[in-house]
Parts: sequence; structure tokens; C-alpha cells
Amino acid sequence: MKRILTGDRPTGPLHIGHYFGSLQNRVLLQNQYETFILIADVQALTDNFNNPEKVRDNVCEVVMDYIASGIDSEKSTIVLQSKISAIAELTIFFSNLVSLSRLSRNPTVKEEIKQKTHLFNDSVTYGFFGYPVSQAADILSFNADLVPVGEDQAPMIELTREIARRFNSIYGTLFNEPDALIPEKNSRIKGLDGNSKMSKSLNNAIYLKDSEDEIKQKIFSAYTDPTKLRKNDPGHPDGCMVFYYMDIFGFDKLNEVKTECLKGERGCVKCKSELTQLICEYLRPIREKRRELENDLPYVYKILKNGTEKAQDLTSSILLQAKEKMKIDYGFIFDK
Ligand code: TRP
Repeated sequence: MKRILTGDRPTGPLHIGHYFGSLQNRVLLQNQYETFILIADVQALTDNFNNPEKVRDNVCEVVMDYIASGIDSEKSTIVLQSKISAIAELTIFFSNLVSLSRLSRNPTVKEEIKQKTHLFNDSVTYGFFGYPVSQAADILSFNADLVPVGEDQAPMIELTREIARRFNSIYGTLFNEPDALIPEKNSRIKGLDGNSKMSKSLNNAIYLKDSEDEIKQKIFSAYTDPTKLRKNDPGHPDGCMVFYYMDIFGFDKLNEVKTECLKGERGCVKCKSELTQLICEYLRPIREKRRELENDLPYVYKILKNGTEKAQDLTSSILLQAKEKMKIDYGFIFDK
């Protein structure tokens, strides 16, 4: 069976961008592949080193979002990155196989550095600049075949393939060159404000755990056609976030909405009420499951502990093989 490794940074509860962009797909993939899902707390610290509480608080939030969304702990192994020491070790060894100029050409990292001037003050840290190497270690320490991710992560998988190739050619064949699995549709969900990416830091997200009141309040302040001031003004559904989410959540009267809006026969309040109802219903089972989990934290801890232990076994055996290839297997001296 082919193996999947994927992951998320625990920097906040998961939102509908994660759900449509990756979670929904993972729920299907877990039936077909041996699946590992990494809660990347070490990577989260690369841009939250000054806020460790935030990362810690969100680890279990993310586990709960996974389970509530249909990730089945019998099929998918949920793993805490900081407990997998093989990843930290491989990161060091892989850092010899990547040049600084190669790292500086990563478009996703470039974009992130631009957004984080407040944190890095024009002087990015070694840890953040190099996190793609650590992400390659995430993937290769499991020797994964497939990595389901959003399109912004494609450069990371490309680098992982290069590192695997380089390792194999210098030290001998060990690692697969993993393939990215990028959904064509909904790979990036827009934010409530119309921004091209839904994200916690942009404060434009609908969370899986949001209450019905929170959903309502968010939808009623979402970005709509600014030229449509009155109910009877003709509107432009393209670019309207309410119309956009109606499409994503599969509203059945989408064509009707479009014609009526274009003709000025439909007001925004009506659309917003209908969308609120649709989203509240859609997310209800997830929200209810999540409330149950919040009341049974020992169960959540057990899932994370069991998953992490299983991953420790697998990754330490792959690390050992890597060390043998690199001629740093000194078991004959130390393991006597
Ligand atoms: N960088 C990914 C993100 O920001 C999270 C991540 C960490 C990841 N390690 C991974 C994704 C390994 C896939 C595989 O979304």
C-alpha cells in the first residue's frame, strides 16, 4: 500500500479553507493509502518562536478538528512533529544537500517573508529560511510516496524530490521521490474579505468550530459587490464572496441566484440569510462531534499518543537506514 504524509502547522483552529482545500480529500484518501498526518509544531515555531503558548494551545485543537471532520484514527495516524526526533536529525543531514541560493528561490517562502516583516524586521532567521529542508525531512523520514497539499506547497515537494535524489545519488538509494497530490478544485479558498487566501492571520476565516451566531455575523459582514447599494440595484455575483461560498457549499439554486442578482431582483440580505443557513447546516455534524471531543480530552490525547508512537517506530528505522548509508552507523561501538 502506498504511503501518504501530510501535515498542518498548529497555529489556529482549522477553517473551511483547510476543509475544502485538504481535509475533505484526506478523508477519502485514508481509505486507499497508509496515511500519516503530521501536526507540525516545530515548523509552527519557525514563525511563532516568540509565542510558544499559541502553538501548544493549538495542537489539540487541530487533532479535534481532524477527528470531527472525519479523519478516522484507525485509518490515519496523527503524529506530533516535536516527538519525532528522526525529523530533527534528518534536517541536519539534509541541510548539506541544499544550497542557500536554492532555498532563496522558493516562491512560497519569499511570499511568507514579505508578509512577516513585523517578525523578521528585514532579517529572516536561519530557521524560517530553512524550514523547507525540515519539511523535506518530515516527508522523507516516513519515506512517503504521496503528499496531498495545497498548491502553495508544491515548491516544498519539489525541493523534497531534489533532496531525495541527491541523497540517493551520493549515499545510495533509500528515499522515494514523493509526488505532490494537489486538488484541482478549491485548492485555495478565498477569505471573507475577498482576499485570495483564507487565513487566521488575515482574520477572514470561517472556522469549523464557529457557532451559528459567529457564522451569521461573519457572513453578514462578508465582502459583496460594493456597487450594489440597494436591493433593486443589479449586482455582480462574480467577485461577491457570498455567491462564491454558495458555490463552494453547493447551494442548489445557484443559477437562480445569479440571474436574479444580475437583473436586480435579489437583495444581498436574502443571499446572506440563505448562505448562513446553508453553512450552519453543513458544519453542524462537525461542530457537534467537536463539542463531544472537547468534553473528552483524554480520548484526544490517546489518539495523538498512539499515533505518535507508531510513527516513532517507523521513522527511527528509516533514520537508521539513512545513517548506515551516510557511514555514521556506530552501533558496533556504542550498542554493545
Ligand atoms: N507547510 C505546510 C503548511 O503550511 C505544513 C506541513 C508541515 C506539511 N510539514 C508538512 C505539509 C509535511 C505536508 C507535508 O501547510
